[in-house]
Amino acid sequence: MVSSKAVFLERFGLRVPIVQAPMGGATTPAMVAAVCEAGGLGSLAAAYLSPAAIEAQLRETRRLTSRLFVVNLFVPFIDPQVAADELERALEELRPWRERLGLAPAGALPRVERFEEQIVAVLRDPPAALSFCFGLLPPAAIDQCRAAGTVTIGTATSVAEARALEESGVDMICAQGAEAGAHRGTFDARAEPSGIGTLDLVPLLVDAVRVPVLAAGGIMDGRGIRAVLSLGAVAAQLGTAFLRSPESSIPQVHKDALTLIQSTVVTRAFSGRPARGLANRFTREVLSPVSFPLQNSLTREIRQAAAARGDVEALSLWAGEGAAMARALPAFDLVRLLTRELEEAEQR
Ligand SMILES: Cc1cc2nc3c(=O)[nH]c(=O)nc-3n(C[C@H](O)[C@H](O)[C@H](O)COP(=O)(O)O)c2cc1C
Repeated sequence: MVSSKAVFLERFGLRVPIVQAPMGGATTPAMVAAVCEAGGLGSLAAAYLSPAAIEAQLRETRRLTSRLFVVNLFVPFIDPQVAADELERALEELRPWRERLGLAPAGALPRVERFEEQIVAVLRDPPAALSFCFGLLPPAAIDQCRAAGTVTIGTATSVAEARALEESGVDMICAQGAEAGAHRGTFDARAEPSGIGTLDLVPLLVDAVRVPVLAAGGIMDGRGIRAVLSLGAVAAQLGTAFLRSPESSIPQVHKDALTLIQSTVVTRAFSGRPARGLANRFTREVLSPVSFPLQNSLTREIRQAAAARGDVEALSLWAGEGAAMARALPAFDLVRLLTRELEEAEQR
């Protein structure tokens, strides 16, 4: 019998079952292309991009590689209902941070990109797969992807979410354990995120659904990849492992901070959704965020100014639990090294 891992490799023309995770603010066309050229599957993070920027990044990635790759979006948002006093409190809490960074008082909020426009831009030049997080794709989008020959990959942090994704008609599911860096894929933005780690979530999902399961969260080297494959995943999806690569677009101070990480925290301070990163003054002091994506819009200029100034106390230092194991290697070399490590681990 042909294994589902072999089917996955064949489907995307891969040499190794390694997926470079989509990471908003970190992945670049250069990273995606390098991973693909090394035999893995790269993912472009398009959720924060305008339709025009999505088209530009797709074009640039295709210029750099002829191999297949993934594009990632967030599912459509329901605009949160935020009471006036809640918003006032959140703005007041952010005021000293704006002052610290020399920003003018908060004005009009930046535009939140609309899924309906983004998906049109993505499917104008259909990628091999569309991965997504934070819920279910609208049925029409699933149909559009199927018609375009684009595989759909949903993100689940619990068995209930995986079952809902399977029922909605997705082709594959990424099991995202609690160790994962940055935003959890949890459907309900207000709920406490599930604490299930990758080691438990992967076999739970493999047993609960019939579609192939990818594993994400805390996978940093060949041993970790081997572990999730032996739990039944068809591939390992690594994010934090690529953050220190030269192709990663996070600020240098963020890259440097990753080497010092002893442990991480889950915070809503930057976006209103639970996300894992290194603790700093911002995560300790911003305690009244409004809901996602409003808080994300309120903090955008702060995060941008902090990145420009290298201010680690105001920056979102996203990182998974395994961050101290991230290696500062070009993405191509990292995939090749992971491949060798996986082969060694398989021989043990
Ligand atoms: C900096 C950063 C940004 C991320 N942005 C996204 C994103 O835009 N979309 C998404 O589906 N997942 C995003 N993730 C989650 C990753 O896709 C993946 O699930 C996670 O990195 C896996 O865990 P690991 O970081 O321990 O490898 C992000 C992760 C990081 C570290």
